[in-house]
This record gives sequence, structure tokens and C-alpha cells, in this order.
Amino acid sequence: MAGGAVFRALVLLCAATVSAEALAANWGTRAHRPIPGDVTVRLLKDNGFDKVKLFEADPSALEALGHSGIQVMLGLPNELLASVAGDVNAAERWVLQNVSAYVSKHGVDIRYVAVGNEPFLKSYKGQFEAATLPAVRNVQAALVKAGLSRQVRVTVPLNADVYESLDGRPSSGDFRPDITGLMTSLVRFLLDNGGVLAINIYPFLSLDADANFPRDYAYFPAPGAPPSQASVQDGNVLYTNVFDANYDTLIAALEKHGLGNITVVVGEIGWPTDGDANANVASAQRFNQGLFDRIVAGKGTPRRPTMPDVYVFALLDEDAKSVDPGNFERHWGIFNYDGSPKYALRLANGKGIVPARGVRYLSKQWCVLRPDASAADPAVVSAVSYASQYADCTSLSPGSSCGGLDAKGNVSYAFNEFFQSAGQQKGSCAFNNLSVITTTDPSRGTCRFKIMIDTGRHDLNHASAAARTAVAWSAVLVLALLALVAV
Ligand SMILES: *[C@@H]1O[C@H](CO)[C@@H](O)[C@H](O)[C@H]1NC(C)=O
Ligand SMILES: *[C@@H]1O[C@H](CO)[C@@H](O)[C@H](O)[C@H]1NC(C)=O
Ligand SMILES: *[C@@H]1O[C@H](CO)[C@@H](O)[C@H](O)[C@H]1NC(C)=O
Ligand SMILES: *[C@@H]1O[C@H](CO)[C@@H](O)[C@H](O)[C@H]1NC(C)=O
Repeated sequence: MAGGAVFRALVLLCAATVSAEALAANWGTRAHRPIPGDVTVRLLKDNGFDKVKLFEADPSALEALGHSGIQVMLGLPNELLASVAGDVNAAERWVLQNVSAYVSKHGVDIRYVAVGNEPFLKSYKGQFEAATLPAVRNVQAALVKAGLSRQVRVTVPLNADVYESLDGRPSSGDFRPDITGLMTSLVRFLLDNGGVLAINIYPFLSLDADANFPRDYAYFPAPGAPPSQASVQDGNVLYTNVFDANYDTLIAALEKHGLGNITVVVGEIGWPTDGDANANVASAQRFNQGLFDRIVAGKGTPRRPTMPDVYVFALLDEDAKSVDPGNFERHWGIFNYDGSPKYALRLANGKGIVPARGVRYLSKQWCVLRPDASAADPAVVSAVSYASQYADCTSLSPGSSCGGLDAKGNVSYAFNEFFQSAGQQKGSCAFNNLSVITTTDPSRGTCRFKIMIDTGRHDLNHASAAARTAVAWSAVLVLALLALVAV
């Protein structure tokens, strides 16, 4: 009895230790005014993240990660695939500048190079397909030459559309027919060189793309809850959620081609909170809490009982990201732009997430539409479209946090985003005398009017951006006037 208790205590202790070390996140840096690198690294550590994935070799992020104890997966962007594939010297230069230098000079613990990002995505229409495997080979050769190949491994983060199951059962999983040969050669190379396969799985995108997608099947089932009506019976196994089914479809595909030994990690998974009717705090909290509970418990899928490394997408919102995938794309963070938690989330050891420390904000002032101006004034309309082109207005989308504002509220929101993104520089709340600065917070209900980050040294760059903006702005007004004259 006593022996059993001690054994159980040891097992619990080990489980706790393992879970505390198992959190991983994507750190994207496409923001107008990001919190500084050292603040972000402290945020990661305070919340128990010890692995991070970067999409490119961002110097300030990498420098901040030096000697932090955090392991790094470093991305080589798709745009560089062709040059790195075509010339091993280009791969060597990339490794020298972006891996070796940070490892040796800054003490960054780089563990993986992620070659490309979802290069086989169907919507890329094959443009990166030919270059990916040669690029992986050249990066591997460059790592060997740099003496780093024992410590730094290669991977390719792939979108879940590289595999499929024609009858919907995970056990029928196979690679997409047009890239079966490519997938088997790539995974074989990774396997032979100690690499891993990273896969991005997005239940949110499945749900958002299909009005008939069974809602509860997108989430991890709550403990004790009855299984979703949409659960999939596959032989003896009942799949109760789309993540398990999707992951095991990949595992079945790998096994079918004798590649079941490859280590798989989940490169991206998460849920956005704004910019789309399906993107909101309640849904994101439900999905991500279910995900973190699984990560902390280490509970894998029917085919792979141990949870793989899972890089949550994302750590922070990125207000300068492309919105090609949708307006939700700038709102994936489990933290807001300033490192404040968006919602309660229990991470390792049942502890709640904690905010970033040491964040410095710009002055407590906002830019809004002058109260006596009309939102329908053509000059206002063109000012808004200009502001929204540069700044992030995705929270105004229908069903989003600011979707309920009236016309004047919309204008003020756009003006303020522009003003804040430009670092509150003089001239960035000018808008041809249609705007005023106020010290009264215009936030209403769910709609937050931001005060952005004081980025310190970066303000110099933004000052010149604001100056360029002022010039561009006069040009827009001239165009608007010409348009009016033409009418
Ligand atoms: C290092 O990475 C950065 C960011 O992706 C890139 O702009 C740069 O060209 C890379 N250096 C080399 C030598 O390829
Ligand atoms: C691959 O898996 C088999 C069992 O299926 C195992 O015996 C072998 O050691 C594995 N190889 C590697 C490299 O992990
Ligand atoms: C702005 O406000 C109006 C309500 O007056 C609304 O219909 C419109 O869709 C809002 N959003 C944008 C982006 O203009
Ligand atoms: C801005 O508009 C206000 C109100 O119409 C007016 O009093 C003020 O003179 C204007 N300022 C400029 C610089 O045009």
C-alpha cells in the first residue's frame, strides 16, 4: 500500500515535471508596435513556455532568446526556398548568418530549422513544391558543414491539406495524390537525418469554411461530456473531435508508406478571437483550454497515446499580418498585442496565465473624429480608407469586437488605430482637420480603443514613417478632390 502510494506520488511528480516543460508557442513578429523582445521572453518564461517557433530570423527576437533556456525552432521563409534550393552556398550563408552567429555569439538554443512554411498548401498552386526538398537537403548540408547538425535538426511545417481520408475514417489516411512521391521522399530524408515532421492543424478553419461543420466536434470534449453527435467510428475507435481524427489521418498515411517512425510535432494550432463571427473569446477559450489540458496531461490520440510537442498559434496578436486568409488572421494570440491575457487559461500545474511585465505604453490619449464632423463627408470616407490601409481595422468586421459601432465610431476607431500605429507622432492625428486628440477613453462595450506600445528606440523609424505618411496623406486628399471634381 505504502509502496503504491509512493509510486503514485512519483508518477504524479514526474507528470508535473514533464508537463511544466512541455509548453511551446509560435512567436510571430508582424506587429506595428511589438512589445520588446526581452519582455516577450519573460512572458514566455513566466507562463512556462520553454519552446518557441519563429517564422524568420528576427534579430531582436533572437537576441532576446540568448541564454534564456528557451529552445528555438527557426523558420526559413518560403521566399528564400528557391535561392537556398538552387545554391548550397546560399544555404551556407543563411546558416552562417542566421543560425551559427546566434548560437555562438548570443547563446541562442536553436534546435530546429523549419524550412519553408506550409510550402505545399494547395492555394500556392505548387509554386514552392520543386524547391522544398532541395532546400531541405542544402540546409542539412550547411548545418553539417557548420558543425551544428547534431544539435540543430531540419523540419518542414506542413499544412494539414497534405493528407486526406477519402471515406472520412482516419485509418484510411493517405497523402494527397498529387504530392505522394514528394511527401514520401521528404519524410524519408527527415527520418534519415534525425529531423521531425511539423504539421499545422486548424479545427477553426474547418469550422469557419463549412457552415454545416458540426460545432462541438471542433473542440476537445469536456471531461464527462457525451461524445459529439458527429464522432467518427473507425473500427474499435471512436473519434470524438477533429484534432484526434486529423492527426491520426496523418499517422495512418505515414504508416502506409513505411514512415511511421518519424517524430511528428504540431507546428501550429489555436483559435482566433476577433475579425470573424466564429472568432471570439468564448470559442478561443473553450478550444485552447481543451488543448492545454491535453498537453499538460500528455494525452495523445488513439494511434499515438503520447501528446507530441504542440506549438500553440499564437503567443501574441500581430496587427500587421496579411489578411489574405481572413480578418481573423491578426487575432490568434492567447495574449493581446501588449501581452495581457485575453481570457483565463490554466496552463501547467493548474496555474493561470499571467500578463507581460514591464510593458511601456504611449501617452494616454486617443485620436477620434471631430464631434461636429460628419462620417458621411467624402473627405472622411477617404481618410478612413487610407487609415485602414496602413493600420489594422479588422475589429470593425461584422460580428467582431467593434462591429457594433455606429458610423462615427467606425471613423474614430480607424483614426485611432492609425495614430497609435504611427507612435502618436505629431501629424498622425491630422486628417485634414477632421480629427481631434482626446484624453477620454472612447472604448465601448467589447470594443477597445488601444493605447499602443512605447517601443523606445523604434520610435525613430516610426517618426520617418509618419513623415512619409503626411506626404502620402496630402496626395490622397488631392486624389479625393480630383475624384469629386470628376463627379
Ligand atoms: C537571414 O534571415 C533573414 C530573415 O529571414 C533574411 O532576410 C536574410 O537574407 C538571411 N540571411 C541570409 C544570408 O540568407
Ligand atoms: C522504428 O520503429 C521500429 C518498430 O516499429 C523500431 O524497432 C525501430 O527501432 C525504429 N527506428 C527508429 C530509428 O526509431
Ligand atoms: C461602420 O458603421 C456602420 C453603421 O453605421 C456599419 O453598417 C458598417 O458596416 C461599419 N463598418 C465599417 C467597416 O464601415
Ligand atoms: C478646423 O475646424 C474648426 C471647426 O470647423 C475651425 O474652427 C478651425 O479653424 C479649423 N482649423 C483649420 C486649421 O482649418
